[in-house]
Amino acid sequence: MVRHTPNDSFPTSTSQLQFETEEVLAKHLPPADSTVKPALQRNSHLKFLVRLLTQGFPTRYVAQDASQPWLVYWILQAFSIMQVGMDPGNKRRAIDRILACQHPDGGFGGGPSHEAHLLPTYAAVCSLAIAGSPGENGGWDQIDRKKMYEFFMSLKQADGSFTVSRLGEVDVRGIYCLLAVATLLNLLTPELVDGTAAFIASCQTYEGGFACASFPFYTSESQTPSTLLSSPRPPLGEAHGGYTFCAVASWVLLQPFSSLQSQPASINTRNLLRWLVQMQGLDIELGGFRGRTNKLVDGCYAWWVGGCFSLLDGLDEIAERGPELQEPVHDEKAEDGAEDGNDWVDEDVDSDPWNTDALQEYVLYAAQHPAGGLRDKPPKSADAYHTLYCLSGLSAAQHKMKPESGHKKALEALWESNSDISFGLEGENEKKVLDDEIKKEVYTRALSWAEDLSKKRVIVGGEQNRLNATHPLFNLTVTHTDGVMAYFYGQPAPP
Ligand code: FPP
Repeated sequence: MVRHTPNDSFPTSTSQLQFETEEVLAKHLPPADSTVKPALQRNSHLKFLVRLLTQGFPTRYVAQDASQPWLVYWILQAFSIMQVGMDPGNKRRAIDRILACQHPDGGFGGGPSHEAHLLPTYAAVCSLAIAGSPGENGGWDQIDRKKMYEFFMSLKQADGSFTVSRLGEVDVRGIYCLLAVATLLNLLTPELVDGTAAFIASCQTYEGGFACASFPFYTSESQTPSTLLSSPRPPLGEAHGGYTFCAVASWVLLQPFSSLQSQPASINTRNLLRWLVQMQGLDIELGGFRGRTNKLVDGCYAWWVGGCFSLLDGLDEIAERGPELQEPVHDEKAEDGAEDGNDWVDEDVDSDPWNTDALQEYVLYAAQHPAGGLRDKPPKSADAYHTLYCLSGLSAAQHKMKPESGHKKALEALWESNSDISFGLEGENEKKVLDDEIKKEVYTRALSWAEDLSKKRVIVGGEQNRLNATHPLFNLTVTHTDGVMAYFYGQPAPP
């Protein structure tokens, strides 16, 4: 007998859909007395991906023609998470396909001759991080970083945000993609990111998660960035897991610049954590995540929401004070002295605030398609996007990743002793010294993420289900992140 989410005797199309989803998911749970362990069907997923890579995409992918770098990235990164390397022929094809999407004026488009756009630029650079290498044909030296930086600067808006393309819309997905690429390729500068943290903060909704953007209020044509940002900016739309991942990862990537921002900004980590926790489905939903309140669970949020829990460890706000010590900002009940409804905060700050075993069960029982590949939920078909993000979420649930201070110190010592990575110090003027300090901070923070081996998680189904850990900020393996950053931080900074 399935115990359904109550509909308060007021059925709607939404509650009906929720009911049907719960019925389907319940059928994917093994009987309570079953001793069979859930297995990750690694070989069928690999076959599914190899088919896409070598035989081409079925016609239903036609709508993704403008997402060609994404299709490459989803497949390559899924291989990396499943600990499978690629043969030189397929690497070559991937590099060539990606480089064909590079725009002559900087950045990458969704296909050859397409307009450059921040989203495929991220997918392209991550694909090259996986398949490429330095050298004449390796793909890394063929990235035009100078033009890329100019492209990024051309998208910058007065309020610190960025449009996703020339004349395109503003969206936190684009901001995340820009910051991730700029971090990987040694293109981050205070000038590029000034005001961006305040824009991100303005996207946090009353629920605690983040919306895609916020409303600018132009009161006069002569409005300056500072008056713009001091105006009230309500978030544009509702909190969503995809945007929340992008906003929180951006916030972490921007932390080396927090003392340099012209606009002070803060986010409410307490509301954020509460919202993230509330996105996890109940047992009847097998512990999968939904992307927004009152919507259905979907395998891809295993990463977009599940992946946010690791990011919390990268927030200085939480590292310094702990989530339970944050003062609630808009918590009226707490202000009234009433019970503040915050029993979701675990007394033991060391334990996970989310159910990592349950998320693994959702992916293993419900998100694996019997014919290979992973999916949103049964009975949907598998696709490349869900295959990567279900696997990334499964990996996030298996490995507790966090910034390790010992690791960071070792990287700092290496930075100081290694002249290859201490560029830009020819003249001893103040700006260069400051720039180098910031670069060191960006580099050592990004590469300090490592698995917290003292907090070993249960691998549901046993060791044969273990995946590679993936970097919470980039969704690349730590090895690929390390390789690409070590290379580009030995290259000159942008002009
Ligand atoms: C709603 O779809 C989906 C969105 C509003 C955007 C989702 C954003 C992401 C997944 C992040 C992408 C990240 C990058 C880096 C490009 P829906 O209404 O079909 O789904 P829902 O019912 O689950 O909300």
